[in-house]
Amino acid sequence: MATFTLPANSTITEGKSWPAPGNPTRTKTFKIYRWDPDSGANPRLDTYQIDLDDCGPMVLDALIKIKNEVDPTLTFRRSCREGVCGSCAMNIDGTNTLACTKNMDDVEGDVKVYPLPHQPVVKDLVPDLNQAYAQLAMIEPWLKTTTPAPERERLQSPEERARLDGLWECILCFCCTTACPSYWWNGERYLGPAVLLQAYRWIADTRDEFTGERLDQLEDPFRLYRCHTIMNCTKTCPKGLNPAKAIGEIKKLMVERKG
Ligand code: SF4
Ligand code: SF4
Ligand code: FES
Repeated sequence: MATFTLPANSTITEGKSWPAPGNPTRTKTFKIYRWDPDSGANPRLDTYQIDLDDCGPMVLDALIKIKNEVDPTLTFRRSCREGVCGSCAMNIDGTNTLACTKNMDDVEGDVKVYPLPHQPVVKDLVPDLNQAYAQLAMIEPWLKTTTPAPERERLQSPEERARLDGLWECILCFCCTTACPSYWWNGERYLGPAVLLQAYRWIADTRDEFTGERLDQLEDPFRLYRCHTIMNCTKTCPKGLNPAKAIGEIKKLMVERKG
């Protein structure tokens, strides 16, 4: 049987242990992936004790507390801290999610925190998402029209507008894309669930006048059809969206326009 091992310089080593400052009575242990490209050292798992009586409830609260009070070198992205910017996406307790909306009480035992999987790491919990952003740019995620702009807005019926529900809420955190096995293996050519959901958001928009061109762009053995309906994307989306369904809708439109 084939055996798979990580290259020696990727093996995660046991890192430093940081006790909680003071003498807290209630603590939670965080094990956090650390890697600094400038050090030349292997990645490591550092252990931090958090005083639960002196910390907000979310995993992001703990990360900010560590950075402010214990170890300023800990590196992660965050902005809104309320689940709307998508920048704090990471792998917590084995699942891709948002650190700012993940309550640490929902994790039994130690809280293990890693960057989003299967992407190059910039540093610590910061993944390199350049490929995914380039793929997003490729689908041109904005309203495209040829007819002259009307005096006022381009109108939609309430029913037409309702078709965009479940799509516009996507915050582009890429939790879904980085949980998708097809994207892990073919990420350079398969667009992945986040970008395909965005593509469908514009295909489904009755005000957009480039539906045919948008479908043409996806009619490719890799860009769309590498989705094998494994459903990891839908299971992991922290906003409760269903990218697998959006991909299914695009595939349906492909069949309909051939018929
Ligand atoms: S349903 Fe498709 S996009 Fe979603 S995880 Fe599976 S293969 Fe990836
Ligand atoms: S569909 Fe969900 S998991 Fe995927 S990018 Fe959008 S919000 Fe994030
Ligand atoms: S900080 Fe914006 S989604 Fe978490």
